Amino acid sequence: MIKVITYGTFDLLHIGHIKLLERAKQLGDFLIVGVTADGYDQLRGKINVQQSLIERIEAVKATGLADQIIVEEYEGQKIDDIKKYGVDIFAIGSDWKGKFDYISDYCRVIYLERTRGISSSEIRSKNRNVNLGIKGDLADFLSRFQRESKYVNGVEINSICTDNIIAMSEEVKSLPFVTDDYSEFLKNLDAVYIHGSISSHYELTKKALESGKNVLCESPVCETKEQCAELFKIADENNLVLMDAIRSAYSTAYERLILMVKTGAIGRVLSVDVTCTNMNSFIENKRYNSFKNWGPNAMLPIFQLLGTDYDDFKIYSRFDKNGDDVFTRVNFGYKSSTASVKVAEGAKSEGELIITGDKGYIYVPAPWWKTDYFEVRYENQNENKRFFYQLDGEGIRYELVAFIRAIENKKIIGNIDKEVSLAICDMMDNFNSGKNLVKI
Ligand code: CTP
Repeated sequence: MIKVITYGTFDLLHIGHIKLLERAKQLGDFLIVGVTADGYDQLRGKINVQQSLIERIEAVKATGLADQIIVEEYEGQKIDDIKKYGVDIFAIGSDWKGKFDYISDYCRVIYLERTRGISSSEIRSKNRNVNLGIKGDLADFLSRFQRESKYVNGVEINSICTDNIIAMSEEVKSLPFVTDDYSEFLKNLDAVYIHGSISSHYELTKKALESGKNVLCESPVCETKEQCAELFKIADENNLVLMDAIRSAYSTAYERLILMVKTGAIGRVLSVDVTCTNMNSFIENKRYNSFKNWGPNAMLPIFQLLGTDYDDFKIYSRFDKNGDDVFTRVNFGYKSSTASVKVAEGAKSEGELIITGDKGYIYVPAPWWKTDYFEVRYENQNENKRFFYQLDGEGIRYELVAFIRAIENKKIIGNIDKEVSLAICDMMDNFNSGKNLVKI
């Protein structure tokens, strides 16, 4: 009996897949199909897969062409499978020509002609094409954002609204629509990404929502809980998505560590301690804005793990002669736990995240907000575990995938929910009004 094996994602199964499976089947008597697991796809840069592993397996099964279906979970598994199942032929589409020649040490390798004019990527783009506009003035970051959007199927950036066009990269300047008129800009869009000064977020977001546009806004969305609640209400009433853009929330390592803590890996959480500092403002001689710039990011793990219903808080800040905070610390008291935030643009500390539990703790090294790695540590060091998850593009592309998904589903799934956004805005208000604030 000749055994043939082939692999693929098989997302939104199409005629190209079916023809490939038919050709592979004809090469022998028994066809094994390896369907890639979500985590493996993510690792190799396929971040947009629309169907779950189960759905993709079911679709391959329904073709009736596979005699056996397996899941591909790791780099190098193909060789293991070929040995394990006694495979004679490895078959794959011609788009992979040459890439799997190394397998010929183990069995015959055949590249089969790929069907022209169809791919899962194209179908995904056609199914959902969100026309996203950028509103903001920070040239470097917006160029990165635009570049990252190209990794995401189903989102297209054609316009920018900025007061700082001179500073923008050539790539951004050559977008089809460049303007400083926000009303004009909003006319031909499905969604807006807002990255302006924090004090402008409320007005910009409100106007976008009232014009029927979905909004992804850098955090904080605004500076009071009331304004934030009002914006979410407008979004809900108009069936639109309003999403907080804190990139850390969308990195796989961060998502996994939150889940791990919630499922009890370190027992009951007693303390969440977060530090974020950078001294760019100091170097460039700009004004300090430690809590506004870092607060949302630093409060994220606290509110996601301990909830937003804290009993008390106290803010300690050092202000400079301009009245700007060079350093701020916030202590939170909960019924059965505590938390602390330490943020600074005019002071330096270790940017780590430590989650203390009654069985062990989680340690995320600096800079934790760009995390691809964390450790779960116990009293008995032999039980310690290390976790690494690839983080590409600082999380921007994952954030965009989550935003597009939220637009499709008309609701934010996982990541940053409304309560967390409201609590962040509330703390901005407390800070601005000096509530429970001690100057040090
Ligand atoms: N395939 C093919 N013809 C196509 C598309 C895919 O023969 N038009 C083959 C691939 O070469 C591979 C298998 O089908 O052997 C599974 O491919 P997969 O990567 O899942 O499909 P794509 O449509 O290429 O997916 P994507 O656009 O996400 O890369």
